[in-house]
Amino acid sequence: MSRTLKHDIPGADWRVGVDEALRRGWHGLFAGDVPAPLQLVVEIGFGRGEFLMELAEREPKTAFVGIEYSFKRVLKMARRLARTSLRNVRLVQAPAEQVVRDTLGDASVSTFWINFPDPWPKKRHFKRRLLQRDFVALLARRLAPGGLLHVATDHPGYAEWIDEVLRAEPRLENCFAPAAFRADVPGRRPTAYELEWRALGRPLHFFGYARRRPTRAGPD
Ligand SMILES: C[S@@+](CC[C@H](N)C(=O)[O-])C[C@H]1O[C@@H](n2cnc3c(N)ncnc32)[C@H](O)[C@@H]1O
Repeated sequence: MSRTLKHDIPGADWRVGVDEALRRGWHGLFAGDVPAPLQLVVEIGFGRGEFLMELAEREPKTAFVGIEYSFKRVLKMARRLARTSLRNVRLVQAPAEQVVRDTLGDASVSTFWINFPDPWPKKRHFKRRLLQRDFVALLARRLAPGGLLHVATDHPGYAEWIDEVLRAEPRLENCFAPAAFRADVPGRRPTAYELEWRALGRPLHFFGYARRRPTRAGPD
C-alpha cells in the first residue's frame, strides 16, 4: 500500500529555488540567521538528510546548503527541518551541476560533502556519474583556498574513477596522500547508505582533497 506524501511544512520552510538563490545570493539568503563572514558548507545529494542535519546542529554559526534533485527527499527534509530550531540550513531541489555553476561564486565555499553518489556501474551510463572532470574543476574553483572536498563511495569501480578525476585536478591536493583514500575516517558521522553498506561488509572509500592556494603560475 502506498503512503501519501505529506506536503505541508510544519514551521519555517527552508527550501529555496535556483532563481531565488541567484537573485538574493547566499549572503542574502542567510542574512540574520548566520553571522558574517559566511562560512558556506555544501552537501550534494543529501538523500535522507541526517548527515546534513547533524553537521548543522554541531555548527550553528555555519551556513549549510543541501542540494538534492529528488523532490520527495527535499520535501521530507524540509518537513524534518521545520520541526527543529535550526536556522542555518537551506535546501535546493535541482541538479547539483546547475546549482554549483549558477549560484555559487568562486572561492566562496569552505567545504563540499558528496556522500555515496550514485555509482552508475554500467559503462554506457558512466557519463551520468556526478564526478566528471569538468564538474570537479568547477567544485575546485568554488572552494576557498584550503577548502575541502570530501567524497565517499562504496563502489570499487567508481572509487577508481573518482581517484582518477580528483588526482587529475591541478587545483586540488590529496589530504590522505600517499594513500588514494581511507577505508574509514574516525569520528565521521555515517550516512544512511554508509550504514547499509557497512552492514553488508562492503569496502568503503573516503576521499579528502583540499583546494591549493593559487600561485601565479598555476590555474585560477
Ligand atoms: C546513493 S544516494 C546517497 C544519499 C546520501 N548522501 C547518503 O549517503 O545516504 C545519492 C543521492 O544523490 C542524489 N543525486 C544524484 N545525482 C544528483 C545530482 N546531480 N544533483 C543532486 N542530487 C543528486 C540522489 O537523488 C540521491 O538522493
